[in-house]
Amino acid sequence: MSSHASTSIPEPTRRDMLSLVAISGAVIGAAAIAWPLIDSMNPSADVIAAGAPIDIDLSKLALGQQIVVLWRGAPMLIVNRTPAALKTLQDPSLVSRLSDPKSDVHQQPPYANNWHRSVKPEFAVLVGICTHLGCLPGYLPNPDPTTPAPNWPGGYFCPCHGSKYDLAGRVYSGVPAPYNLPVPPYRFMNDKTLRIGENPSGATFELSSVVQM
Ligand code: FES
Repeated sequence: MSSHASTSIPEPTRRDMLSLVAISGAVIGAAAIAWPLIDSMNPSADVIAAGAPIDIDLSKLALGQQIVVLWRGAPMLIVNRTPAALKTLQDPSLVSRLSDPKSDVHQQPPYANNWHRSVKPEFAVLVGICTHLGCLPGYLPNPDPTTPAPNWPGGYFCPCHGSKYDLAGRVYSGVPAPYNLPVPPYRFMNDKTLRIGENPSGATFELSSVVQM
């Protein structure tokens, strides 16, 4: 009987993890399409794959709720943030724990370079891919005080290696993820309709220009 070779398992690379995201994306896409509002407004799968802008009706997005839609094969996270969540984003005790609280690294369009990292403070629009190795961070707006991380007011938690982000996608210091979650190009067509994939008039931001997708 031959002795077996080393059983050490190589660490996954960012490319490996992003491949998993693509697979997971199919599941997210199915879930998002099952949501009737999204289903009614989204263009066909071919159009989505081509990277065309997608419209999302926000009128039924409840306070505190998140929806996930696919754009260019990547999960886009849209949250209707509560007044309490917006207050927390400005809390100095939270801000002091962030790696890039002022969004100095180019991870967002200029029109989202502010404390809430968005066009309208109440609506977060983020790319849901961890900037470490590309896992899908989970939405945990009100976590238990001890898990998954002690003294964490909530936001996004990446289960792969424990990276934490706040509800603006700003990454905490001392975690494996190096950058804030990217913000895609988007604009509001009216009070209730969000268009992902198109900048406000006069802006020219491309998602491919960010430091880390
Ligand atoms: S992929 Fe490693 S912490 Fe998110």
